[in-house]
Amino acid sequence: MKVILTAAFFASFVFVASGHAQSAPAAYTQKCQMCHGATGRGDTPAGKALGARAFNTPDVMKLSNADLLSVIKNGKGKMPAFAGKVSDADITALAAYVRKLQ
Ligand code: HEC
Repeated sequence: MKVILTAAFFASFVFVASGHAQSAPAAYTQKCQMCHGATGRGDTPAGKALGARAFNTPDVMKLSNADLLSVIKNGKGKMPAFAGKVSDADITALAAYVRKLQ
């Protein structure tokens, strides 16, 4: 019985931990959320001040994956560039996460 409970405890822990990792890459919470918000609406004080649009507005929806990668790497308007600050693998994961938020 004790063994089963222990196994169940660890199984639920792994489930919660991996669920969290999928909900937002650490790089998003650390580098993007302050402007784009947890849900990608740009509704934070910094996002509103700088004019970050919601990721689900039509103009942003129609950007290609290459466009998303390029904005994240090179910046755009008041958005800072992240090439060199975030690894290429993280930039790819961030672009995929922007798509998911849309
Ligand atoms: C300092 C605030 C700030 C941070 C931090 C920031 N952004 Fe932005 N982002 C902006 C602003 C402002 C725009 C709109 C730029 C424009 O159109 O002039 C933008 C635009 C974008 C766009 C294109 C959508 C559009 O409106 O054209 C994407 C995609 C994006 N950001 C993703 C990210 C990701 C991913 C991160 C984290 C690595 C990030 N941003 C970090 C401010 C920020």
